[in-house]
Order: sequence, then C-alpha cells, then structure tokens
Amino acid sequence: MKRPTLFGIGIGPGDPDLITLKAVKVLGRVDIVFAAASTKNSYSLAVEIASPHLKEGVPLVCLGFPMTHDRKKLHSAWEENVYKVHYALMKGRDAAFITLGDPLTYSTFGYIMCTMKERYPEIPIKIIPGITSYQAGAAAAREVLAEGEESLSVVSGALGPKRLNDVIDHTDNVVILKVYRHYREILDTVNGLDLTSRSVLISRCGLPGEKIVHDLNRYPDRFLPYLSLILIKKNKKG
Ligand SMILES: C[S@@+](CC[C@H](N)C(=O)[O-])C[C@H]1O[C@@H](n2cnc3c(N)ncnc32)[C@H](O)[C@@H]1O
Repeated sequence: MKRPTLFGIGIGPGDPDLITLKAVKVLGRVDIVFAAASTKNSYSLAVEIASPHLKEGVPLVCLGFPMTHDRKKLHSAWEENVYKVHYALMKGRDAAFITLGDPLTYSTFGYIMCTMKERYPEIPIKIIPGITSYQAGAAAAREVLAEGEESLSVVSGALGPKRLNDVIDHTDNVVILKVYRHYREILDTVNGLDLTSRSVLISRCGLPGEKIVHDLNRYPDRFLPYLSLILIKKNKKG
C-alpha cells in the first residue's frame, strides 16, 4: 500500500494562471491542505489560488508561524506544526503544504520539511516547484535576470546595509525580496551606490494594484505592500 505523502506545493507568485499543471494535478488528489498563517496576506492569497483545484470538502488548515527571531519559540512552533501534519499523514491522508511562489525559496515550507526529515525520516516528501516572485517580477518589468557570464544573487531585504552593499559589490544582478519594512534603508544603500536608475521595484506582481517602478528615486515613499521586491541590474543597457 502506498504511504501517505507530504507534498510541498508552490502555487506561483499570485497570478492564478501562473500555477503549474503538476501543482493543479496534485492539489486535486490530496486529502488535506496546510498553509502558513502569519505571512501577512499570503495565507488567504495562497488559499484563494489553490481552492478551485481541490477535491470538494478537503479541509484547509492554517498553521501559525510566529514572526520572531527567538530561536526557541520558532523551533517549538515548527515542532508543533510538524506534529499536526504528521498526525494527518498517520490517518492515511496525503497532505499538501501550499506556498506562494516556490516552496524552497524563502518559504515556511523549508522549516516544515527540515523538521519533518529530522523527526519523522520515514515520511515520503515530494516537492512541486513553483514560479518564483522574482521570475514573475522580471517578466512583468521586461528585464533580463541574468545573461552571458553575469551573476545573480537573491537576498532578503533584512540583510542590513553593510551586507547588502557587499552583495551588490560582488554581483551583476541582485534580487531583493522581503523589501517592505526595509525599503528606506535599501533605498539609501542603492542611492549610495548610484544604482537607483538601474533598479526596478515590483509590488503585487500579477495582482490587483500591481506597481512597476523603474528607477527607485521615483518611489521615495516609506511604505510598500508586503508583496514587493527589487531587481538591481548593474549592467543595465536600455
Ligand atoms: C517569504 S518570501 C516568499 C518568496 C516566494 N516563496 C517565492 O518563491 O517568490 C515573501 C516575499 O516574496 C516577494 N513576493 C512574493 N510574491 C510577490 C508578488 N506577487 N509581487 C512582488 N513580490 C512578491 C516579496 O518580496 C515578499 O516579501
């Protein structure tokens, strides 16, 4: 008999048409769906995108991930969440954990997967990759992510000015995710490197209220939506 499996499913960056055929197929088979609750609006967005593809009556369970740097609190939340997922699997149900974009790119699924591997190594885990926010962002802004021998770095906006400076110094193209709370600081860093005209801000890509701003100096506002990213192209031509 087939063992119940945990699927980590990327449902794409927000545009409901950017979900893969494989994600749709697997979503149509699973018996229970989990999603992370505390990443601003992404829980409801992820559920909204996945829902039309689920079997009728499939339960949707929201798991809490505290927004804290306290390692002890984080670990105990991961343990508790993995316990809940494991419990569902032990009842013979295939389970999906859905995530915006790709499940292995800055996603809460990473914590679930690593804790599951550690605690319950016998559980089969399968990953369905998703189109990332920055792939969709580059497409919407019509910017090349990398070409030829160029390098590409993907970083978190919470890096801090010094590390961000170092990354930009050593890379041709830089994607900055999780920009929203750190925008002012990032803008100052990019300004200091004289790269604002080579940077694009993409907010709510593929969603109502989408904003694409070429040259960050045109967007000096302090507040950005949670779903915002920046692409810096040091060798930008046109
Ligand atoms: C926790 S990370 C999730 C990344 C996601 N797993 C991926 O593969 O793109 C959340 C960050 O992704 C970016 N993001 C996700 N969806 C986005 C969208 N539709 N438009 C712009 N940025 C988005 C934002 O930088 C946001 O702060």
